[in-house]
Amino acid sequence: MYLSFLKASNFRCFADIELEFNQRYNLVYGENGSGKTSVLEAISYLGRGRSFRTNNVSDVVKWDEEDLLVYGKIISEGTESSLGIINGKSGLESSVNGDHTRGLAGLAHSLPFQIIDPNTHNLIGGGPEARRQYLDWILFHVEPEYIDIWRKYKKTLKQRNILLKSHKRRSEVQNWDHGLAQLGEKISLMRDEIFVLLEPVLMDFANELLDMDINLIINRGWSRDLGFLKSLSGSIDQDIQYKSTQLGPHRADIKVSLKMGAAKKHISRGQQKLLACALINASIELVQSHVDKPILLLLDDPKAELDNNSTKKLIKQVCSLNSQIIATSIDPDESLFGLGTKLFHVEQIIKKSN
Ligand SMILES: Nc1ncnc2c1ncn2[C@@H]1O[C@H](COP(=O)(O)OP(=O)(O)OP(=O)(O)O)[C@@H](O)[C@H]1O
Ligand SMILES: [Mg+2]
Repeated sequence: MYLSFLKASNFRCFADIELEFNQRYNLVYGENGSGKTSVLEAISYLGRGRSFRTNNVSDVVKWDEEDLLVYGKIISEGTESSLGIINGKSGLESSVNGDHTRGLAGLAHSLPFQIIDPNTHNLIGGGPEARRQYLDWILFHVEPEYIDIWRKYKKTLKQRNILLKSHKRRSEVQNWDHGLAQLGEKISLMRDEIFVLLEPVLMDFANELLDMDINLIINRGWSRDLGFLKSLSGSIDQDIQYKSTQLGPHRADIKVSLKMGAAKKHISRGQQKLLACALINASIELVQSHVDKPILLLLDDPKAELDNNSTKKLIKQVCSLNSQIIATSIDPDESLFGLGTKLFHVEQIIKKSN
């Protein structure tokens, strides 16, 4: 699978751009503020129905315009399919092969991608939500049941939290515990199972990039010594006090540590980026081996925060994944991925389209 064509209209600084991508390596280059990251953002919009930079569609729609449009063609085993998305004042609409889709899961299955950008170090240095989303992304692609269970869990959690907020009796809150616990245990079990497969791949990848021994533990969001149901009943006083459910897979985390302690406290920003890249690359490798579907990798300014040697190691690792890569850089650095890289000068593309 690869993205062969992208059209973006009224998207950030683009009135209308069209790009035809190479199956393997693509490099979008241009000056600061020319629109490189916006190209990757348009692709992420096509694959997830949202931006990786903002939750507000009004930030992404071109100034003084009403709706953005992104359209793409995907080639998979010789067959072409199309994805489209419109969002803005008239609301969100998405389509796969011209048919309207309900929800965005269809887009995500048609164009699975990962992104490495200058904020990627936050996967190690930032809060747990990004790490949960990281695990959930893997499970979404390898475990078809996962999304349904996760949605049911979130719905049940929401109901329980509404009761906690409206000061209902504790027995009313606890009526939800059984259902919540069953779903929560299932989510955790799936996360544990995928983690066992992920860990060795990640160790290899982290070693390649950092030459450090790392240790990983999944914190499931409640004590491993107790079942989730028991933990819920044990924390009811806290839940009432904070007016929300304090324990559960919505509080899970991946603890990444080194000999000296938690990675987020003990390694530099560049090292955090490398470790985060190892996590992302390992997730791509794992998903590809499960679903036999290449994952598109968006690489925004891969050199940011990295020295030459680290950049080389990172590029070598991403190339080993056999994914389609769409990268950005200030310079038309053909040597980054070698011969056969398709170059896009973003200023020229904008000029041509006006
Ligand atoms: N909604 C919008 N409408 C029009 N232009 C916008 C909008 N949002 C951002 N821009 C402009 O789009 C331009 C491109 O931004 P982008 O972040 O894609 O640049 P870039 O090439 O990645 O820059 P850098 O090298 O600094 O990372 C910026 O000049 C920005 O001011
Ligand atoms: Mg940028």
